[in-house]
Amino acid sequence: MEFQIAVLPGDGIGPEVVQEALKILRRLGVKFGHQFHVREGLAGGAALDAVGEPLPADTLKLCKSSDAVLLGAVGGPKWDNNPPPRKPEKALLGLRKELGLYANLRPAKMYASLLDASSLKREIVRDVDLLVVRELTGGLYFGEPRGIEESDGEEVGVNTLRYSASEIERIAVVAFEAAQKRKKNVCSVDKANILETSQLWRKVVSSVGKRYPDVHLHHMYVDNCSMQLIRSPGQFDVILTENLFGDILSDEAAMLTGSIGMLPSASLGGKVALYEPVHGSAPDIANQGKANPIATIASVGMMLRYSFHLQDEADAIEKAIEKVLAVGYRTADLLQSQASQTLLKTSAMGDHLAEAL
Ligand code: IPM
Ligand code: MG
Repeated sequence: MEFQIAVLPGDGIGPEVVQEALKILRRLGVKFGHQFHVREGLAGGAALDAVGEPLPADTLKLCKSSDAVLLGAVGGPKWDNNPPPRKPEKALLGLRKELGLYANLRPAKMYASLLDASSLKREIVRDVDLLVVRELTGGLYFGEPRGIEESDGEEVGVNTLRYSASEIERIAVVAFEAAQKRKKNVCSVDKANILETSQLWRKVVSSVGKRYPDVHLHHMYVDNCSMQLIRSPGQFDVILTENLFGDILSDEAAMLTGSIGMLPSASLGGKVALYEPVHGSAPDIANQGKANPIATIASVGMMLRYSFHLQDEADAIEKAIEKVLAVGYRTADLLQSQASQTLLKTSAMGDHLAEAL
């Protein structure tokens, strides 16, 4: 089969990890007889430097005319003091909105060989296998009015938390359908003891839940969920939550598995889906061959599964990751013991994974 993939390497470690993911795609193409046509575009700081805006119209056009988008990461200290419309992060928010990607899936699964890489005790993280379903185009990230204004002689910052019933309903459907293919358990996370948006969230999610009698639904306050995630994360299957809570909880969930460098994500909802590692641009380790490419490679796995419906190919990527870790190959973020493990640079990790395929 033939596929068009828009690739946006972005900033920091983005280009390095994307390069390894492309290595894997090429290898898969040969092995399974597919043609993956890759077209690169500018996004984030790289685009700001080249053409003065974080998400150029050409990039958006490229994405819209592709079958899927692979993104590295955006952002860095160089652009941190830019005004909001000229921040690299704007590229990501613009892509999510323009492509209608309201559903962000962030799986966190423990690899047996990484049990000791977690900062938590192995008996706590042993059973981690969860999926955060994060609403991605609403809430505080996009609510209006927003801004910093002058009021009574001082500056006041304003953001708006707003969710319509239909926005809540469509993301709830994604969570319940995902749960049906997993352990049939949805934990909906909100702050309904305080926030009206959360009260509506709980009401709508409960009513959607009635359409999925095979799935067990329960509700949890976000502060409690944050605690439960480090107390006994094995209790979770699908965590359904709004945009900002999902941003925070998915970083926390990522850390359970040892390194945020392991976690892939898929953003779905529109015609063209976007795949990216959960980690950011990590400017402190950029261009040193220290980055872990596994999150980006696993994101390609999600692309094969969700956008291209290539289940065997996606399984092959997951098996290759397991195999390489089991042999003891580690990037710096995962290294536990120099004696029994081999420290690899970014590109060597990509080579070993390609070979394992
Ligand atoms: C993420 C990131 C983004 C977000 C930033 C880079 C805009 O933290 O994808 O989790 O906050 O959504
Ligand atoms: Mg985040």
